[in-house]
Amino acid sequence: MEYTKKQQTNFKITALKKQKPSFLKIIHPPKKENNLFYPLAHKSWDEVEHNALITQLYSGKLTMGENVLKFEKQFANYFGSKFSVMVNSGSSANLLIVAALTLLKKYNFKEGDEVLVPALGWSTSYSPFSQYGIKLRFLDINKSSLNIDQEIIEKAITQNTRAILAINILGNPVDFRKIKKVCKRHDLILIEDNCESLGAKFESKHTGTFGVASSHSFYFSHHLQTIEGGMISTDDKDIYEFCKSLRSHGWTRELESDDYSKNTYTSKFENAFKFVLPGYNLRPNELNGVLGQCQLKKFSKFLEGRRKNANFFKNLFSKSSFCQIQDSNRESSWYGFSIILSGNLKNKREYVITELTKQGIETRPIVSGNFLKNPVEKYYKYSVFGDLKNIKDVDENGFFVGNSHKDLKPQISRLFDILDQLNKTIN
Ligand SMILES: Cc1ncc(COP(=O)(O)O)c(C=O)c1O
Repeated sequence: MEYTKKQQTNFKITALKKQKPSFLKIIHPPKKENNLFYPLAHKSWDEVEHNALITQLYSGKLTMGENVLKFEKQFANYFGSKFSVMVNSGSSANLLIVAALTLLKKYNFKEGDEVLVPALGWSTSYSPFSQYGIKLRFLDINKSSLNIDQEIIEKAITQNTRAILAINILGNPVDFRKIKKVCKRHDLILIEDNCESLGAKFESKHTGTFGVASSHSFYFSHHLQTIEGGMISTDDKDIYEFCKSLRSHGWTRELESDDYSKNTYTSKFENAFKFVLPGYNLRPNELNGVLGQCQLKKFSKFLEGRRKNANFFKNLFSKSSFCQIQDSNRESSWYGFSIILSGNLKNKREYVITELTKQGIETRPIVSGNFLKNPVEKYYKYSVFGDLKNIKDVDENGFFVGNSHKDLKPQISRLFDILDQLNKTIN
């Protein structure tokens, strides 16, 4: 039997009404999030996010719309860039940045050119370059900051180098004063991957505002959580417009400027489906936009919590005889805590991790260790500058534990005690 549209709508409304009580039950989150004593990440939502989600769900407006736009504007204001474009992940933000830079003629960034990158980074920090024919040139990191080794950048430049990718690792800002000078001297484009470092500052300015474009991630463990989500920040209107078009199939619909042949056709009908760039569909949805707004209101509190934990961690661990921690004398936003084993624990990582796991402490490699040890490298065109000796230790002796807005003093203390004990007893 065929139903009319009106009948179908009525069925949906009735179904929603029936479901309402069970939906409402989840407004009160479970008391215990997970059974681990010290997990890598904590959920930062409460009833504010749960209610906002349900309200948005009931509105029926779920595909990208006014809430994504609102969040973009609030984000740009808060972190101090002219424009923001929200996408469905930090990886997508990286992809669109590289796409925009290679498609915009004025950047003259083209196939065969080279970008300098640190060997410590995420797969999707690198892959977009490879996908657009840009060669990667891997550099070692600084052993204490874990960021790209600034002292070797200038020596690593070749005649094909056109750009530098600065990745602010685990919340720790790169020294942008130095890196910008190098970029200026050699006419290089500075791109920032800020996916791990929202809220960090270098000389009173937020990271993510130093490159021509920067990426941010709002995945679960990150400083803002929108389920999945990412953002591009830029002060360049052309990058902004290109990213908006590339995010949505390469069409012109969301563009503000007429420069991109939006009005070539006089008919509104034709302009609504006019494709100008080789785009993707990487759009977030309204639920992500609503969550972003709720979370941004709490951001300063989140950061305060992370920094309190970080101070406690630094005080406890900086004088230890069994590890080295990340040195951040800048305003880090402390994504997590890296530990590089030394003393009696050097080369005993497997054993240490097993003991920590038994005690409910979750660990993971520092970002991805030496990225070039990942089999994906065979798909990249790349070269390496120097011997990457600093990253070797991070790769072989390093691991990472989480940080959060929550008070983690008991967790950090227990971690310290276990490591201290292992260091004293291991042979
Ligand atoms: C440095 C870096 N860049 C990019 C990403 C990708 O972000 P997403 O998981 O939102 O795609 C991550 C993920 O954590 C990251 O650590």
